[in-house]
Amino acid sequence: MKEYLFKVLVVGDIGTGKTSIIKRYVHNIFSMHYKATIGVDFALKVINWEPDTVVRLQLWDIAGQERFGNMTRVYYKEAVAAIIVFDVTRVSTFEAVQKWKFDIDAKVKLSTGEDIPVVLLANKCDLAKEGLVKNSAQMDKFCEDKGFAGWFETSAKENLNIDKACRFLVTKILENT
Ligand code: GTP
Ligand code: MG
Repeated sequence: MKEYLFKVLVVGDIGTGKTSIIKRYVHNIFSMHYKATIGVDFALKVINWEPDTVVRLQLWDIAGQERFGNMTRVYYKEAVAAIIVFDVTRVSTFEAVQKWKFDIDAKVKLSTGEDIPVVLLANKCDLAKEGLVKNSAQMDKFCEDKGFAGWFETSAKENLNIDKACRFLVTKILENT
């Protein structure tokens, strides 16, 4: 029996849906009511990955407002992967994606010295999209240029692609073990 515990960061601007994605993924619940995360919250997702392999994802749900604080270095310590979330209806949250990626790459590395794998989630895809996310070929290029492992359109509301994105991320994490 193989058992893994992986620390995964979930970051992105205020109100992009980080907490909603985690609540959907871990508890299969969703609420339209917005309650800002303060600092950091935690959730644990247990995945029966293969008959002989259990993966535990410790999800660090970091408040969007932390982009303007100095705590991220502390939060990022020993993470093996990250999820960056933006809101497809607000271009400013997509523009912030690079800032989050730079912050992660500057503050956390794998033991090999490599960058940790990062996936980009274009969340709220149940709503009308604005900006680059309307063009999936350009999004592919953006992600390749900026060093993302991949990107997915997600909806916490409709439960779209969240399992798929997380499975993809676990595959990337396991490649580094
Ligand atoms: P901070 O904790 O402030 O950083 O925000 P957050 O990124 O955790 O966002 P949160 O999950 O609290 O969601 C913000 C708002 O967006 C809430 O009102 C959610 O109900 C809504 N929301 C989240 N995901 C979706 C989605 O996929 N579709 C729609 N339509 N609304 C969503
Ligand atoms: Mg939150």
